[in-house]
Amino acid sequence: MTQILHGHILHTPQFGRLEVIPDGYIVLEEGGIAGLYNTLPKKYAAMPLEDYSDCLIMQSFADMHLHAPQYPMLGMGMDLPLLDWLNTYTFCTEARFQDTLYARRVCRQLAEDLISSGTTRVSVFSSRHTDATLILMEELERAGVTGFVGKVNMDRSGGPVQESTDESVSETRRWLENCRFAHVKPILTPRFTPCCTDTLLKELGRLAAEQNLPVQSHLSENTGEIALVKELHPDCHQYWETYHKYGLWKKGTLMAHCVHSGREEQEAMAEYGVTAVHCPASNVNLCSGTAPVRELLNRGVHVALGSDIAGGDLLAMNRVIVMSIRASKIVQIATGAPFLTVPEAYWLGTTAGHQYFGGGAGFQAGCKLHAVVVDDSAMPEPARKLDLTERFERSVYLMDKRHIKAVYSEGRKISLQK
Ligand code: GUN
Ligand code: FE
Repeated sequence: MTQILHGHILHTPQFGRLEVIPDGYIVLEEGGIAGLYNTLPKKYAAMPLEDYSDCLIMQSFADMHLHAPQYPMLGMGMDLPLLDWLNTYTFCTEARFQDTLYARRVCRQLAEDLISSGTTRVSVFSSRHTDATLILMEELERAGVTGFVGKVNMDRSGGPVQESTDESVSETRRWLENCRFAHVKPILTPRFTPCCTDTLLKELGRLAAEQNLPVQSHLSENTGEIALVKELHPDCHQYWETYHKYGLWKKGTLMAHCVHSGREEQEAMAEYGVTAVHCPASNVNLCSGTAPVRELLNRGVHVALGSDIAGGDLLAMNRVIVMSIRASKIVQIATGAPFLTVPEAYWLGTTAGHQYFGGGAGFQAGCKLHAVVVDDSAMPEPARKLDLTERFERSVYLMDKRHIKAVYSEGRKISLQK
C-alpha cells in the first residue's frame, strides 16, 4: 500500500544538521519510506494523502533508558543519593510488580503515555518479575511502542526484590522462552554490578553469547556506587571492566548515565561499540553529577538519551532533550565545553536511538516511518512570522500531548487516546 504525508518535514540526518523541507511530501510503501519530495511526483498523484498542511512532521523520540515499575513513583522522592534512593523508595515500589493486575494497569498507562508523547522506540527495564515483564512487553506492543524490554536480574543487595542466583537464571530463561512479540524484543538486564554476584554476571554473559542477546545496565552514575564497585571488584581498575570480565561489554550494550566515566572508560565504549545513554533529568534529581556528553561524542562514543523514569521525572522526550541542553550549559559554565545546540540534542533524542535499533539517519529511504506530527498553532502567538527552524526549536521546547496530532511507529499510524 502507498501512503503520502504532506506537511513541513524536519529531521536530523546527521548530528547537529537539521534538514527542512517546507511543504514537502513523505511517500510510504508498506510503512517504509520510499522518498521525501519538495513536489509530489506525478505517479503518486492519485494515491491516498494525509494532509497535515501547516503542521510539522518531525522524527518521533527514542527513550533509551527507563524503568517501568518506577512509573508509580514519578515526581516523588528525589531527596536522596542513588544507593539510599534505591533502598528507601525504589526497591519497595518495584516489589509491587509481583501483583500482575497492578503491573498490567501501570504498564498500560505507561505505554499509552509514551506513545501519546511521541516516543515510539524504547529500551526499558522491567522489575525482576517474569510475569510482569511479559505483561509490560504485551502492553507496549498493544500501544504501538517498539524496542527492547529487560527482566531485571538482581541477586545481591536488592532488599525486597532480591532473587536467588538460581532463580534469576531460571526465570530469565523462562522469560526468554515466552517472548513472542513482533515489535518488542528481549534485552538482558543485570541491574548494575552492586546488585549482581559474579556468578550471575557470568551466567548472563554466557546467555548473551548463547542466544546472541543485547545487554543493558547502569555505569558510573554516582560516586558512592563507584566506590562500592571498586570494593566488590578489587581486580578491576575501572567500573566498565566488571561487565567486560563476563562478556557483557560488547557491541550494542547500552550503559545508562556514564556521568563519571573518565577517558579510559569512554575510550572502551568507543572501541567496543557500547552506547552511552545520557539521562540528564535523573542526573540532576539524584545529584549524581553532569555527564560529559561533548567529551563522549568527541571520543567517538555513540550517545543517546533516556528519561530514566523515575530517577528522572520527565517522560516526554522533548523535555528530556531540553534538559540535556540545560545540563550541557551547566557543563559549559564549569568546563567551557560547548553546550548542545537544539539540532544536536534533538539528534540524540531521535536519530541516535533509532539508529541503535537499525533505523536510518533521519527519515531515510528504506526505513519504517517513526514520526510525530506537531500542530503548533495553539502555542503563544509569536511577535512576527516564524520560520520553520524557529518553529522547530519552539516545538522541541514546548510541545506536549495537546500539540501532537498524529504518531507513526514502525510505519503504522497509531490511533491516540485523547
Ligand atoms: N542503578 C541501579 N538501579 C538503578 C535505578 O533504578 N535507577 C537509577 N537511576 N540508577 C540505578
Ligand atoms: Fe536507571
